Amino acid sequence: MSFLLFVIFTCILNLKSPTTFAQDFPDETNLETYIVHVEGPDTLLSSESGSFEWDQWYHSFLPTTTASGGNRMVYSYRHVFKGFSARLSADEVKEMENKEGFISARPETKLSLDTTHSPNFLGLNQNVGFWRDSNYGKGVIIGVLDGGILPEHPSFSDEGMPPPPAKWKGKCEFNHTTCNNKIIGARYIGTLPDESPLDDDGHGTHVAGTAAGGFVKGAKLFGSANGTATGIAPLAHLAIYKVCSLSCFGSDVLAGMDFAIEDGVDVLSISLGGISFAFYNDLIALGAYSAMEQGILVSCSAGNGGPSYLSVRNSAPWILTVGASTTDRKIRATAVLGNKEQFDGESAYQPTDFPSTPLPLVYAGTVNKSDPSARYCDPESLNTTSLLKGKIVVCDLGVVTITEKGDAVKKAGGVAMIVANNERYANTTFSQFYGLPATHVSFADGLKIKTYINTTSTPKATILFKGTIYGDDRAPVVAAFSARGPNFQSLGILKPDILGPGVNILAAWHTSVENITNTRSTFNIISGTSMSCPHLTGVAALLKSAHPDWSPAAIKSAILTTADVVNLAKNPIEDETFHPADIFATGSGHVNPSRANDPGLIYDIRPKDYIPYLCGLNYTNRQVGIILQRKVDCLVESSIPEGQLNYPSFSITFRSFNSTPQTYSRMMTNVGEPNSSYVVEIVPPPGVEVRVEPTKLDFSELNQKLQYQVTFTRLNMTTSNSTLDVKQGFLNWSSTRYSVRSPIAVVMR
Ligand SMILES: *[C@@H]1O[C@H](CO)[C@@H](O)[C@H](O)[C@H]1NC(C)=O
Ligand SMILES: *[C@@H]1O[C@H](CO)[C@@H](O)[C@H](O)[C@H]1NC(C)=O
Ligand SMILES: *[C@@H]1O[C@H](CO)[C@@H](O)[C@H](O)[C@H]1NC(C)=O
Ligand SMILES: *[C@@H]1O[C@H](CO)[C@@H](O)[C@H](O)[C@H]1NC(C)=O
Ligand SMILES: *[C@@H]1O[C@H](CO)[C@@H](O)[C@H](O)[C@H]1NC(C)=O
Ligand SMILES: *[C@@H]1O[C@H](CO)[C@@H](O)[C@H](O)[C@H]1NC(C)=O
Ligand SMILES: *[C@@H]1O[C@H](CO)[C@@H](O)[C@H](O)[C@H]1NC(C)=O
Ligand SMILES: *[C@@H]1O[C@H](CO)[C@@H](O)[C@H](O)[C@H]1NC(C)=O
Ligand SMILES: *[C@@H]1O[C@H](CO)[C@@H](O)[C@H](O)[C@H]1NC(C)=O
Ligand SMILES: *[C@@H]1O[C@H](CO)[C@@H](O)[C@H](O)[C@H]1NC(C)=O
Ligand SMILES: *[C@@H]1O[C@H](CO)[C@@H](O)[C@H](O)[C@H]1NC(C)=O
Ligand SMILES: *[C@@H]1O[C@H](CO)[C@@H](O)[C@H](O)[C@H]1NC(C)=O
Repeated sequence: MSFLLFVIFTCILNLKSPTTFAQDFPDETNLETYIVHVEGPDTLLSSESGSFEWDQWYHSFLPTTTASGGNRMVYSYRHVFKGFSARLSADEVKEMENKEGFISARPETKLSLDTTHSPNFLGLNQNVGFWRDSNYGKGVIIGVLDGGILPEHPSFSDEGMPPPPAKWKGKCEFNHTTCNNKIIGARYIGTLPDESPLDDDGHGTHVAGTAAGGFVKGAKLFGSANGTATGIAPLAHLAIYKVCSLSCFGSDVLAGMDFAIEDGVDVLSISLGGISFAFYNDLIALGAYSAMEQGILVSCSAGNGGPSYLSVRNSAPWILTVGASTTDRKIRATAVLGNKEQFDGESAYQPTDFPSTPLPLVYAGTVNKSDPSARYCDPESLNTTSLLKGKIVVCDLGVVTITEKGDAVKKAGGVAMIVANNERYANTTFSQFYGLPATHVSFADGLKIKTYINTTSTPKATILFKGTIYGDDRAPVVAAFSARGPNFQSLGILKPDILGPGVNILAAWHTSVENITNTRSTFNIISGTSMSCPHLTGVAALLKSAHPDWSPAAIKSAILTTADVVNLAKNPIEDETFHPADIFATGSGHVNPSRANDPGLIYDIRPKDYIPYLCGLNYTNRQVGIILQRKVDCLVESSIPEGQLNYPSFSITFRSFNSTPQTYSRMMTNVGEPNSSYVVEIVPPPGVEVRVEPTKLDFSELNQKLQYQVTFTRLNMTTSNSTLDVKQGFLNWSSTRYSVRSPIAVVMR
């Protein structure tokens, strides 16, 4: 309760004229929000101290120079963290450092939502159909930390929804409406006055709709993409935590996780992240650890920093870290040049009246020689040119958003746009609505189009809009933006864990993207690991509903060991270059929900198993204690190398030419058939010997646990150079019915 009060206090403070408080408070502009971590005196630790005692303790750290220290408090945390956030000056923080029990104070950082591409349009969600094999997520509560929600959207109708489970303790803070059996809770978490959990920019509505939107028949726009839209777990409940308004602040995100744990969610969906920090300094990792201890699975976006190596974030082993890939649906827009060459691209906007006779074609890079960013169709570089009038304009990807390019071209009198990828984004293209007829083509095709322009006196082109096409058997393809391993914070844990659909995803939106009057049934297409994360959240909810006794680690193991490693054409999954993707892009592979429902064996991890792992990361006792929220002595606890955590995948680093062999053990739990025999099949990474002992495991009952050992040895002939040398293989335990696969990543130094 006091929690909420602090928020209101802060609002009042913000509303008053700063001069009123000039005597009591340092200049507001010198204040920053700090996240302060403290430890309690023994009296607090030993007794059954409640929130009140902790609040009092937290307040004792606030500056005494202010008349009412309470006004500075932003949040006092309950579950995720022993500590609070408060508005403080640097001097005040210095003073606080001398107090008994102080551990650390850090200015909070901003996090960002993981969407790479701005709003566009509508259609149907692909009917993936696998919810029929499970319980549609019935009875499971999905907490979504994001930018709020539009509760009136038909995706969130509660027709056919059961009431929330008895354990639910959440609140509903909409001003204009109430919650229902679909959206069972909604909170605004932040310090802006007059805010509610309503969505401002569509992201939160889209994410929630993807995870657990209900069935909406006849979702369509411009007559295309007509069909039934649905989320992955259509009978799951939604609990909305609006932690992002204009931006996402760390103190709010932490408070959102605190509320979600207290309210009783089962799965948490977090499509945001910040700079990657060590786990004891990473707010999402800290909150997720407490959630995991309560049996909550936390699904997070891997980030949009791909295709660079080492770009993955939200990479703690107790988090499900989700990369993004394409689906088999394309909304085709083909550029046809004057020389009859054709290049397939994508565009959500499919005008029916676009002229089929060729129009003049121009490359924006040639129209403003004085400005190097003209080629990106930067609005400022094209704002007075008359060279685009009546033409189709080629713009390079980058510098400004594609929507901004579209606006710039339209303003300059262009009739259509061709967006050419840069080399990094290669063959990853987006079906968006750019404000005018357009198509987005690959890097290679963009080069050919520019060469044609260069070598032709009167270049011409048109765009053929071919509508929605299903069955691209190259899918899933890893998206260029999908963040990659290795996992810098813990090289011994393979990240990302899994791929899910995150390119050109259709789901609920807060407004009409197009100019139509019916704003109550709007959908949009956007891309990002923000979109793949809620797909996996939905899958986790289905699994939780089907297997209520599975731990978060068991659910994760089921998803990872059953993932697909080949595409629809049965070839290895490719990345944006259309070559086989490496293991630091795919992790365990692409989620296969119905197989995850029946994995045969699982690699389980109990919360206490993370303690020797954290000690083995060489964190200090205090650092481990920050994560666990209690005192820990690593000399008393055991300490294990990262590779020894019972994780369902392997990430091995050989630091030198003559590295010693590495041996780890794994424990598997039988959740398949009582009497079953598994044999191991090993495909070693090149230059590495992989030996497993024993090579056969005979189970005779359910929930029986059996152990095996695996030894990785670097072979003599392998050489390496300064580039990141990645090798991959896998081991696969199979019975007559099941196949339980663990990928092996090896980095040679
Ligand atoms: C909405 O309700 C909250 C409290 O639930 C209040 O603080 C806020 O001012 C209200 N906003 C509007 C726009 O009425
Ligand atoms: C949309 O699909 C439904 C059912 O398949 C059909 O009855 C309806 O005519 C379609 N509408 C359009 C505009 O294609
Ligand atoms: C064009 O861009 C320049 C450079 O930013 C700016 O100074 C100018 O006002 C813009 N002109 C128009 C017509 O928008
Ligand atoms: C060329 O770019 C410059 C700098 O952005 C801008 O000021 C100028 O208006 C542009 N010229 C034309 C013709 O658009
Ligand atoms: C087009 O020609 C210019 C100069 O003539 C050259 O710099 C550029 O590389 C050419 N572009 C392509 C795509 O061939
Ligand atoms: C949307 O509608 C408004 C007002 O009816 C109009 O001014 C605007 O040009 C329309 N925008 C588009 C993209 O059609
Ligand atoms: C895109 O895919 C094609 C195969 O269609 C491949 O030849 C090309 O190299 C890829 N482009 C880039 C830039 O990687
Ligand atoms: C921790 O320290 C030990 C001993 O120095 C070292 O062998 C091990 O590689 C370190 N672990 C990590 C994760 O850095
Ligand atoms: C498992 O196998 C054992 C020995 O082969 C047999 O006695 C037992 O009945 C079997 N149990 C089941 C559940 O099939
Ligand atoms: C690797 O080389 C060492 C000597 O350099 C030798 O003793 C060892 O047997 C070799 N191992 C393998 C697997 O060839
Ligand atoms: C470095 O090693 C990798 C893998 O063995 C190889 O593909 C690459 O060409 C090598 N690079 C150089 C500069 O030798
Ligand atoms: C695992 O091994 C079984 C039996 O050899 C095989 O059927 C299955 O395809 C293998 N799975 C993978 C992912 O390689």
